[in-house]
Amino acid sequence: MIPELIVRLREIVGSEHTLLEDIDAYGHDETEDFWYPPEVVVRPRTAQEVACVLRLAADHRVPVTPQAGRTSLSGGALPVCGGIALSVERMNRILEIDGRNLFCVTEPGVVTQVLQEEVEKRGLFYGPDPASRGSCMIGGNVAHNAGGPRALKYGVTKDWVYGLQVALPSGELIRTGGKLLKNVAGYNLTQLFVGSEGTLGVITEATLKLIPKPRFAKTLLAPFRDVIAAATAVTRIFEARIIPCACEYMERAAVEAAEQRNGQKFPVGHGAAATLLIEVDGNDEEACEKDLEKIAGICMEEGAPDVFLATDADKRAAVWALRRSIGEAVKSISAYREEDTVVPRARLPELVQTIREVAAKHGIAAISYGHIGDGNIHVNLLRMGLDDEEWKRRLEPAVQELFERTIALGGQITGEHGVGFVQRRYLPLAYPKHHIELMRGLKRVFDPQGILNPGKVLPDEEGVAIPERHRPRGTTTT
Ligand code: LAC
Ligand code: ZN
Repeated sequence: MIPELIVRLREIVGSEHTLLEDIDAYGHDETEDFWYPPEVVVRPRTAQEVACVLRLAADHRVPVTPQAGRTSLSGGALPVCGGIALSVERMNRILEIDGRNLFCVTEPGVVTQVLQEEVEKRGLFYGPDPASRGSCMIGGNVAHNAGGPRALKYGVTKDWVYGLQVALPSGELIRTGGKLLKNVAGYNLTQLFVGSEGTLGVITEATLKLIPKPRFAKTLLAPFRDVIAAATAVTRIFEARIIPCACEYMERAAVEAAEQRNGQKFPVGHGAAATLLIEVDGNDEEACEKDLEKIAGICMEEGAPDVFLATDADKRAAVWALRRSIGEAVKSISAYREEDTVVPRARLPELVQTIREVAAKHGIAAISYGHIGDGNIHVNLLRMGLDDEEWKRRLEPAVQELFERTIALGGQITGEHGVGFVQRRYLPLAYPKHHIELMRGLKRVFDPQGILNPGKVLPDEEGVAIPERHRPRGTTTT
């Protein structure tokens, strides 16, 4: 990196927030063992500083990778082309909780759980609830349109974002939307930035919808001897016109991994092929209980021998803590590739069957879990004892087939983790060429120099493949 550029970065964000050493942590997110240390890390405090950094980078054609909590599971926060890592971690203030209009305004570095807890103290509620809520940040959630367990009732991040301030590579700051429930003035740029994975602009502020906090929540665990029966129970719950606020699926190996990692056990389900974790919420306790009873009845009709009701707060918290730890727990078993399949809910039994068939056909161990209530199943393909060559030989055709069959079920290659760095090459399975070209055109409009989060979302253009870099074995970064 040219020395003048470092001097200018120091002028913009301050020397103590322009880091050249001890920056390994900024070289990884939560995606496999990928590791791409940036050349320099900047930690701006204001939107103006972000805009100035982008302008400088555009002038010098230096890549900038925006980073928030670095919990991406698709490599979205990896500085795969080196250059500048722009971390919004210091932009961590909740600017306003507006109880009259039911909106809040936050900076991008606010940890999602912190926002949830702050609004809940005022009897309000922010719906999106990604599993990594204790460390992920609003900026990353917006950039990736994060989902999570509550999506089936409360939607994903996009359903809560009504306004943004965004820094563009031109050095301009723009505001989109606002505290407006209705607003059709022109193209919906707010929603274009949501889920654009930091490739079009850097989110410097978000205006998010709030609702009154539901007063009651009731949780149930139902173990099944057969994974297809669990998936069938899910479709039947919705057919019975019940919308739970969460409906999670955990295969036996996922349950066991979480239990082992946490040294705690789920109250039921030991040895079950799959367990459902279902929650209902609302303001009428009796209605919640009735729905839960109906759900328990459906699960038992589909073969669940027993159900466990976690109605008090401590039991609920314990069950959810175990569920949230599954991702980490599964990854600690072996090197892996994580896929994030999604289909229309009614095709879930077929998706569950497809995953099993593909894994068996290609001889790869697979552990599935996830948000079955919204058709979104995470599939971890585990390397286990396979050597490099064999793992590669089996993995790529397995992923290709999994995606092709998921798409044939009316699904997509990612439901909530994003395309990022690792799924780009599969985007042509999801969209025809002219559709991808339209996306490339949008990218050029916002970022003509191509400096912003390069190597993400769009497939490599011919001849410019980015080499894979992994963390050296035996090393860890924090
Ligand atoms: C989860 C993350 C991996 O659902 O999306 O646990
Ligand atoms: Zn998830």
